[in-house]
Amino acid sequence: MSNKLYGNFISERKKARSFFNLVSIIYPIIEWNLFPQYEKAIKKLDIPTDLSVLDVATGSGILAAAFARQGHRVYGFDFSEKLLKRGKKKFPEISFKKFDLVDIHQIPSNSVDIVSTGYFLHGLSPEFRETILNNISRIAYQYVVVFDYCCDGGWFVRLIEWIEGPNYSRFISSSREEEFDAAGLKVEKSFHTSNFGKVWLCDKK
Ligand SMILES: C[S@@+](CC[C@H](N)C(=O)[O-])C[C@H]1O[C@@H](n2cnc3c(N)ncnc32)[C@H](O)[C@@H]1O
Repeated sequence: MSNKLYGNFISERKKARSFFNLVSIIYPIIEWNLFPQYEKAIKKLDIPTDLSVLDVATGSGILAAAFARQGHRVYGFDFSEKLLKRGKKKFPEISFKKFDLVDIHQIPSNSVDIVSTGYFLHGLSPEFRETILNNISRIAYQYVVVFDYCCDGGWFVRLIEWIEGPNYSRFISSSREEEFDAAGLKVEKSFHTSNFGKVWLCDKK
């Protein structure tokens, strides 16, 4: 990665960290809405059990917990101390680690069976998203599972995402399949998890 790109990612992620530490107060509402969606979708994906899962940008660990309840061994990485503290209390079965994903290149290749991520990609600049996708594809031995927006969520979602940063509208108007393909991933299954959310199960090509 060039120094300039690394520098851009550092400033992008500084803003994100303050934002997520701040919104940790309202996280119970987000968890209450998202956790059942994650649990239902993970069951429906019907992935073989007892695999190792790394959930990147895990927040308070609700997607990680949905995998753990299906019998997987799960690790959750995030850089928000407040969300990680909440996750450690709620889900002691998950191995949480404070980790800034600007350093994702340090995680060894093929080191876990599944890499997952929930509602992380839409908040990133296209350049950082590309870096994250290339790396999660490299780190996963078998599958990559992504949950995120697929379409416009209306004024409330637009307002929240406007506060988070400028990337949401560009994200929903670009093609996930093309981005996954460019990162060496093939979409095996994908379905709606809500009116504006989707899950993509990808295999390595
Ligand atoms: C919208 S939240 C989603 C959290 C969780 N995946 C969920 O579904 O509830 C996005 C998460 O990305 C994390 N994040 C953003 N940039 C990051 C970075 N550079 N390194 C580590 N975590 C990051 C935030 O701290 C936050 O927890």
